[in-house]
Amino acid sequence: MAAPSPRIKSIRDFNLKGKRVLLRLDFNVPLSAPDADGHCHVEDDTRIREAIPTIKYAKEKGAKIIIASHLGRPKGKKNPSFSMAPVAEHLITLLGTELTLVDDCIGEGIELKSQQLLEGDILILENLRFYAEEENNDHDFCTKLARLCDIYITDAFGTAHRKHASTYGLPAIMEQKGMGFLIEKELKYFDTLLEAPAQPFYLILGGAKVSDKIKTIHALFKRVQGVLVGGAMAYAFMKAKGQVIPPEWKQPAPEDVDAAKFLLQEASSREIAFLLPADTQSGFDIGPKTISQFVEFLAKAKTVFWNGPLGWFEKEPYSLGTNTIAKALAENPNCVKVVGGGDTVSAINQAGFAAKFDHLSTGGGAALEYLENGGLPGIEILKTIGHRAESPSLT
Ligand code: 3PG
Repeated sequence: MAAPSPRIKSIRDFNLKGKRVLLRLDFNVPLSAPDADGHCHVEDDTRIREAIPTIKYAKEKGAKIIIASHLGRPKGKKNPSFSMAPVAEHLITLLGTELTLVDDCIGEGIELKSQQLLEGDILILENLRFYAEEENNDHDFCTKLARLCDIYITDAFGTAHRKHASTYGLPAIMEQKGMGFLIEKELKYFDTLLEAPAQPFYLILGGAKVSDKIKTIHALFKRVQGVLVGGAMAYAFMKAKGQVIPPEWKQPAPEDVDAAKFLLQEASSREIAFLLPADTQSGFDIGPKTISQFVEFLAKAKTVFWNGPLGWFEKEPYSLGTNTIAKALAENPNCVKVVGGGDTVSAINQAGFAAKFDHLSTGGGAALEYLENGGLPGIEILKTIGHRAESPSLT
């Protein structure tokens, strides 16, 4: 595996004892609809579970921990439907320890609470996006967040493509900053895909739109030897090849057909194998012939990156294609299997093969952007030297 960039410090590089450590995590997780009492619960806790090693490490090392995250898109307004309360409750269960959720993320009261923390204590800030200043990367807001901490550690891989206050402006002014174990793991796998994937390296693509992913797919063409396409995305490629898409199937948008044409031409000039569905299940899943062809082709794979389910996996019987391909990969121990995108991770979880995959990324858009550019703003900023504009403390 390729090592992460040496210029980025790891949480291991800091003496955390007695220090106020702000952990920027991505706890933007799906919540259930409120029950009769108005309570919501976390529906998929992958992102929370993946952040646990970093939180536990900081606690064991005697840090005074301040967790910061956004949740949903409350558009800069305080809105109880986007409160971090369900996340905090879930975290208490996972950690088996108490913690305090505060009702804001900046201000003198919060600063005071950060000063009063004891070693190993955990404070969770309320949703950062209750302030428009978060998404606007407002300098004053960054300064207020900086007053809460001595050390900034990010494990928010899923949000590292955003140049927001907590992901970009804050680390820009922090002198002591680094990454947690989750980002380290994400980079280890994605850098390997970009730099030295074991060959043959195949790409499995699904979902709906190809035009959104064209740059990432094109960037990966430098390394891949084969591309397998399912889901509604396949119809853009089929149409680009002159096939008629039956009117009852999801019709590809013109920009998707254009993107597909470009990618097919590029793949052909680079002699990359391109497998499209030979049959479908009523247009909602890849058909049995395609499943066999894909399984046979993937048997040779040494590396796979999978983005996008191959059919309507939430609905029986259209999960068969995605489940069978997940099973075939799970049974191939010689292949490094990396999955990106929330839907694809849910599909692998639903199929029951998550433990057999090497890496299920917590990033959707962030994973694709990393593969496209080989970096993300929220990670690159960790390489810079920060200067605080003013004193970090009230006292
Ligand atoms: C995500 O879920 O993709 C991240 O948390 C970023 O959220 P955003 O798309 O609302 O910026």
